[in-house]
Amino acid sequence: MVLGGISLYGQENVNRKIEALMGKMTLEEKIGQLTLFTSGWDQTGPTLHDGYKEDVKSGRCGNLFNAHTAAYNRELQRIAIEETRLGIPLLFGYDVIHGYKTIFPIPLAEACSWDMALAEKSAHLAAKEAAAGGLHWTFNPMVDIARDPRWGRIAEGTGEDTWLGSQIAVAKVKGYQGNDLSDPTTLLACVKHFAAYGAPQAGRDYHTVDMSERVLREVYLPPYKAAIDAGVGTVMTSFNELDGVPATGNDFLMEQILRKEWGFEGFVVTDYTSINEMVPHGFSKDEKQAGEQALNAGVDMDMQGAVYQSHLAQLVKENKVKITDIDQAVFRILKMKYALGLFDDPYRYSNEEREKNTLFSKEMMDHAREAGRKSIVLLKNESIEGRPLLPLAKSIQKIALIGPLADNQEDLLGTWHAAGDASKVVTLKQALTDALPNATITYSQGCSTETDNRDGFGPAMDAAKAADVVIMAIGENYRQSGEAASRSELGLPGAQQALLEAIYQTGKPVIVVLMAGRPLTISWMHDHVPAIVNTWHLGTMAGPAIADVLTGAYNPSGKLVITFPRNVGQIPIYYNMKNTGRPFDAKNKYTSKYLDVDNTPLYPFGYGLSYTRFKYSNLKLSKSTIGFNEDLKVTITISNDGEYTGEETAQLYIRDLVGSVTRPVKELKAFQKVVLQPGESKTISFYLRSDDLRFYTRSMEYKAEAGDFKVFVGGDSADVLEADFELK
Ligand code: GLC
Repeated sequence: MVLGGISLYGQENVNRKIEALMGKMTLEEKIGQLTLFTSGWDQTGPTLHDGYKEDVKSGRCGNLFNAHTAAYNRELQRIAIEETRLGIPLLFGYDVIHGYKTIFPIPLAEACSWDMALAEKSAHLAAKEAAAGGLHWTFNPMVDIARDPRWGRIAEGTGEDTWLGSQIAVAKVKGYQGNDLSDPTTLLACVKHFAAYGAPQAGRDYHTVDMSERVLREVYLPPYKAAIDAGVGTVMTSFNELDGVPATGNDFLMEQILRKEWGFEGFVVTDYTSINEMVPHGFSKDEKQAGEQALNAGVDMDMQGAVYQSHLAQLVKENKVKITDIDQAVFRILKMKYALGLFDDPYRYSNEEREKNTLFSKEMMDHAREAGRKSIVLLKNESIEGRPLLPLAKSIQKIALIGPLADNQEDLLGTWHAAGDASKVVTLKQALTDALPNATITYSQGCSTETDNRDGFGPAMDAAKAADVVIMAIGENYRQSGEAASRSELGLPGAQQALLEAIYQTGKPVIVVLMAGRPLTISWMHDHVPAIVNTWHLGTMAGPAIADVLTGAYNPSGKLVITFPRNVGQIPIYYNMKNTGRPFDAKNKYTSKYLDVDNTPLYPFGYGLSYTRFKYSNLKLSKSTIGFNEDLKVTITISNDGEYTGEETAQLYIRDLVGSVTRPVKELKAFQKVVLQPGESKTISFYLRSDDLRFYTRSMEYKAEAGDFKVFVGGDSADVLEADFELK
């Protein structure tokens, strides 16, 4: 395993140094290296642990999280180096999920760019800024596939597709870890939450996960494996149980899959007190047994639970855990500290000069704006008086800017915005004022994102009536998605829907800028509002990114990575579903459907409009039959039939019509981006081979089966051209 350019287990000289150090360590000092506590600077879970500094001094805690800035971490590191018996450097971790100080779009938003270089650059810049802030380790990428937008943490992931999620996982690991972990502009990464945390029953966070091994291996595991194959140095266990066994005590996951099948050589850290939580799970009779089960399942580091600290020594005495397993965990962790260069220079990440020059640099802010622009998905853009409502006409003089997210800073940072500085966020109001100096922009908040208070409706309606066009900035605040933020209804929170309908009644053309951490159920909005721009939560430069799209400075190119349901009753609804034995047929009552809503989503996976129009034609296959490991060339022509230059993401899906187990109606296998001038056409090629057609067969072998297939190519998962081929 090559981690950040350093082979973890290839450096014999490093191994000898570690073994020599371990030879001096007491059992308590070894257990200290397996212990991770939060500093008092931030709380990201149910408990706080005072006295962490004393634990550092005594060698009972070798790792901290939620501590940052060059100066603060330098002082903590000094304590570890100068005031402990062996001077083993501390490891500093933090949730750098989509930026450290400069905040980029939430991961679900950035995934809609379908731009791997962009995703990698966001991670690289986040690492550069965080490492300048004294940090060594980020608890990211989160690669949990999710098909249920009731689950608030869908905001942190890459949506519903396994193949796309795997591509993004690789980009993030490369971006964070670079080629050399000892480089003070890179971070040790942590793929999480292992495993299948994104499939909680009823979309309720921390709820039970139960699925077949086939679905686990085919849908949920691949992105974690992609991160490990990319060299990620650490893995975080998930809170959920899987098949009745909590992930944090699950040796099938931690030993069989992670170590034996995937050859992972880094270390495994628990999620926040997830060892302790095996007691309420009903898997451990007490925390001591939980500690025994976690260590024996292959979990190396205890985040915040103090279970290892409290019980491992006794468990060794009782021969319930082996000292060799503790030594192996210590070795893995010390190896990572060596890889980070901490034994060479423990203060290498605490350079206040570099910190001052890196945070909020132009490079960071420019990227935040670019990433924001590319994450925006145009959902609807109807014409008014013969002209599409967007981009805003130059002739517009009076704009009413209405809604609780129009002049808002912190909410635009989105969930998990770490040490993001809300005061640095450029609001939509500010950005539109800067972009449209000749327009009169009248702002009226109208209502909040939470209460049902409608006192602001009057002034908002007055502003709308006096304007040529209304821009409504509505959606969720940053607390309404993310961890412990599941929602059972997915409409606009608070009185926003009522405000939208009241503004609609004024008869003025309305453009909705929808800011949320998840797909919302917006059927009324879709039926009544002429233009809908889905911007998610875009971070520090949200305002300018949105203004660039509204003014036409940037032609939106985002494509959904998560299905928008018509209502909550349809959930789970995702593009790669099975066909069933009674696929919907409008002419036949006895087929799979609802009495009260269509089977189709409001907006499908892969969907996103442009200010121009892209047309697909001439889908051609090089052959109608291919053998195993033989290339099938797929070509298609895409033309720009509109008035704007635009970027299109052409998507290729397949369908295996008959298998030893049933197969989804579509599976994303490739995409290509093309930029076309108005009137320009391009013919692009994709290549498929039998390896792209593999799945877990009836006998659980991962392989392709001969038979008939379809290929689909289009601008989303629903509007496609198709062709047939056979694998022989
Ligand atoms: C939280 C989250 C996890 C995060 C950790 C540390 O509970 O589940 O994603 O990295 O605790 O903050």
